[in-house]
Amino acid sequence: MTDLPPGVHPYDPTARDVLESPFAEYRRRHSGCPIGHSDALEMPFWALFGYDDVRAALLDPKTFSSRYGTTPVFQKSIGFFSDGKEHTHFRAIFRKRLSPEGIAALQPRVADMARRLLDDMIAKGPVVDLHDDFALPLPVHVVSWLLGIQGDEFVTLKHWSDELMDNAFGKSNARFLEVYAGVCAFFDQHLDARYAMLTAAGIEEARPEHVGTVLPDDWISDAICADYLGRKLNRDEQRIALMGLLVGGNETTTSLITNLMWRLLEEPSRWELVRSDPDRFIPVAIEESLRFDSPSQGMFRTTLCPVEVAGIEIAAKQKLMLNFGAANRDPAAFDDPDSFRLDRDARDLSRRHLAFGGGVHGCPGAPLSRMEVGVVMRLFVEQLPEVTLAAPSQRSVGYNLWGRRKLPINLGR
Ligand code: HEM
Repeated sequence: MTDLPPGVHPYDPTARDVLESPFAEYRRRHSGCPIGHSDALEMPFWALFGYDDVRAALLDPKTFSSRYGTTPVFQKSIGFFSDGKEHTHFRAIFRKRLSPEGIAALQPRVADMARRLLDDMIAKGPVVDLHDDFALPLPVHVVSWLLGIQGDEFVTLKHWSDELMDNAFGKSNARFLEVYAGVCAFFDQHLDARYAMLTAAGIEEARPEHVGTVLPDDWISDAICADYLGRKLNRDEQRIALMGLLVGGNETTTSLITNLMWRLLEEPSRWELVRSDPDRFIPVAIEESLRFDSPSQGMFRTTLCPVEVAGIEIAAKQKLMLNFGAANRDPAAFDDPDSFRLDRDARDLSRRHLAFGGGVHGCPGAPLSRMEVGVVMRLFVEQLPEVTLAAPSQRSVGYNLWGRRKLPINLGR
């Protein structure tokens, strides 16, 4: 184990008790040791737990860079894993579909997908697994559709999404590289098919106006046709964009649905309250769930220069985990942080919690997942008023993820 400076305590996010529920560990950190150091994975890293420290790091990308990737592994600087102008322009290409107008246009189709899945789940009931039968497939369907991947291929897509998530966070770098190669091959087939469509139409150079005309109107076509700093994206950039959107939009939204229903049903008076006034309580419940049970417990940065954080000198080129889950339970930022409360203010929560990160790398998919889960909650309130928990749940795999992998419920109908 590395010799740690005074005031820094070892941190092992993979320790059995921390994995099962990290919140007692966060409470200890908030009472006097806001910075930790981990040797638990292949790559060592520092960890920040305090709300102000995490937020300050998010807002200072010149010191806390995403250029070496946002996991504990040092990755190539590309696409979302970059800083400054490069990153701003890259992100803008894919953010268009997630603008307020974009989200409003997506809502009817998302509602339709949710209704179909709910009908299937009801047909299977009365006891079902909310994770397998609803919360997992819905975001996969939505992201597949936005990417432009049709039909049964969404099963392959989910497989790659899970493999990436399971291996990106530093258990084994070698396995991560294998998975990365597999995902690249998957997207290459789709990119090649689009270039073949352009060739068949006699087009030599893709242009933005080909999206939705010669090519389907989706993210794969955006990756091919968009202008980026006076050129087109190269193959590696196209792959990293599609991978980021795939992984970003899947497990996180699944976890938001399972975490939220778990907390509401665990204490039936909460579900009653949401049912009694859905317009008022659905938005609060979503934001409180994001704060209380943040689906992404943390992402990483790399220090570009020596910096003092929470009174500790950290050298340049160090990996640092920004622990969103802990920051959102910091008593210095939220009253009574370890209670799930529906009497908080939804707008205040949405502005302050860090479940979607913040700053220039803040989640561009936040409006989509808020819309998606809002649609789901309305459907559940209308169609499943008597739903209850049916058996104990299980946590999802991976220290950086926090969601229910099994959530048996009784649909009550
Ligand atoms: C409840 C759902 C979601 C949660 C909790 C979540 C969480 C996050 C967080 C914490 C970050 C910041 C990462 C960092 O600071 O390094 C992030 C970034 C990102 N998310 Fe999400 N996300 C969700 C949904 C989505 C969806 C639906 C999409 C797209 C389909 C998406 C795509 C992305 C992308 C591409 C980034 C990288 C942005 C950048 O580096 O500029 N996310 N997400």
